[in-house]
Amino acid sequence: MINLQNQPVPVIVDTDGGVDDALALIMALNSPQLDLKAVTVVAGNINVDQAANNVLRVVSIVKPNTLPIVAKGCEKPLVKQTFNAAGIHGADGLGELDRFQEADGTLRYPKLTIEPSTENAIDLLLKAAQEYGDSLTIIALGPLTNVATAIQKDGATMKKIGRIVIMGGAVTAPGNITAAAEFNFFVDPDAAQIVMESGIPLTLVGLDVTMKAPLARQVVEENLQRHPSKVTQFIADCTGIYMAFHRDNEGFYGCYLHDPLAMAVAIDPSLVKTESLYIRVETQGRFTTGMSLADRRDRRDHKANPPNVEACLDVDTERFMQLFAQLGNLLGNLPVGI
Ligand code: RIB
Ligand code: CA
Repeated sequence: MINLQNQPVPVIVDTDGGVDDALALIMALNSPQLDLKAVTVVAGNINVDQAANNVLRVVSIVKPNTLPIVAKGCEKPLVKQTFNAAGIHGADGLGELDRFQEADGTLRYPKLTIEPSTENAIDLLLKAAQEYGDSLTIIALGPLTNVATAIQKDGATMKKIGRIVIMGGAVTAPGNITAAAEFNFFVDPDAAQIVMESGIPLTLVGLDVTMKAPLARQVVEENLQRHPSKVTQFIADCTGIYMAFHRDNEGFYGCYLHDPLAMAVAIDPSLVKTESLYIRVETQGRFTTGMSLADRRDRRDHKANPPNVEACLDVDTERFMQLFAQLGNLLGNLPVGI
């Protein structure tokens, strides 16, 4: 989380390599408030190998001065069968970039020459927790399998970290992958519950607020016209299939900025209003697996079930969209991404 000395905050982004993850990573790579130590990758929207490749694609386009370590983690959920969102983010998780060609017929997104680290994401998370302690924020944008595995391996070390900002769950909003569950929590509910009961300070950026942050296709296309760059071109290309899915299934031609909002909350927590809640994640439900159940009863036993999450219930959408436009390089006004 942001600190008063305005020193960049050491962060690790844990991601499942989809379209909104890519938009969030562009923000992180452009944010002076964050010191991006590493990106750890987990299976979710797409398999872990493709997700790692997608992270490297974003890095190759933004061209940050310092390349973050990209380390692969868990290939499947702790207990449940693998479940992905290729039908929503595209077969490659990034809008099927191999469709795009330049005017001369060459591939706009050729095969990458950079590789992920050989270091395992779980070991990297534990090493960072040990090294940075409570100054470290983990920004979790996918299923929580990597984080939960690190907690299972060495919970005491993981409890040293300052905070985990999680894109996931929902308090009062319906689910998005089932009526009850948000995608990240649905893919690995067991991991989500392990994180909920870990005792680590948690901020939950759930569907209650992310569904209040839509990005219209028109905005993306207008920005590409006004501010042509590799980054604005990439944003237009990778969001095509994802936005068409929303057009055909959610009634608007655009997409929700789930992961970018979680990134924004890590940068500026004043963007959201939170409530301290006791939340558990259903792991055995017949219809409700992955549901994040907040106990908001007045007569809840506060001693037995103390709040474990700062849950975001409202967002200053206008200020968030300004931050997204700036850090997401939508305005093409940042010196990266020629
Ligand atoms: O429910 C939305 C979340 O699931 C986002 O993080 C999206 O990238 C997918 O991982
Ligand atoms: Ca994600």
